[in-house]
Amino acid sequence: MAGTRRYWYRKRLVLTGDDMRRKIIYIVPLLLAFTACGGGNDKTPEPKGDAAGRKLYSSKCSSCHGSDGKQGVGGAKDLSVSTLTMDQRIQIITNGKGMMPGYASVMSGEEIQAVAEYTATLKK
Ligand code: HEC
Repeated sequence: MAGTRRYWYRKRLVLTGDDMRRKIIYIVPLLLAFTACGGGNDKTPEPKGDAAGRKLYSSKCSSCHGSDGKQGVGGAKDLSVSTLTMDQRIQIITNGKGMMPGYASVMSGEEIQAVAEYTATLKK
């Protein structure tokens, strides 16, 4: 019994060095992933929306609304707190409102839909 026990301890000790190394190999990328996410707060939120919508948004909308929707140039509404429905968003993007131009002649219905869906992903 005692012999088995000593053997068990020795085996454990031998394993520890290897184990640690193996753990470090797993922990380092994990830490990197965490810091990447943690630092992501002041960056653009990772968009869940369609890539086309995101592209349209950054080329046509972010000048006023900002990449996170909060910029508010010329009274542009903060899209991260907007409570509009999808239909209302599409309506405003299509026809414009106040200082915001309409995009009916610039984008197809599909593109307007895509960018409207993207604006919904800016909501916190
Ligand atoms: C020239 C600046 C400007 C640009 C470019 C612009 N907007 Fe706007 N946007 C505004 C302004 C100003 C308002 C507020 C209109 C109002 O209510 O009087 C607004 C409002 C909105 C709203 C309504 C938000 C709410 O809660 O009332 C949505 C949605 C919106 N914009 C989406 C977009 C999208 C999508 C694009 C790109 C296709 C875009 N905007 C481009 C200025 C802009």
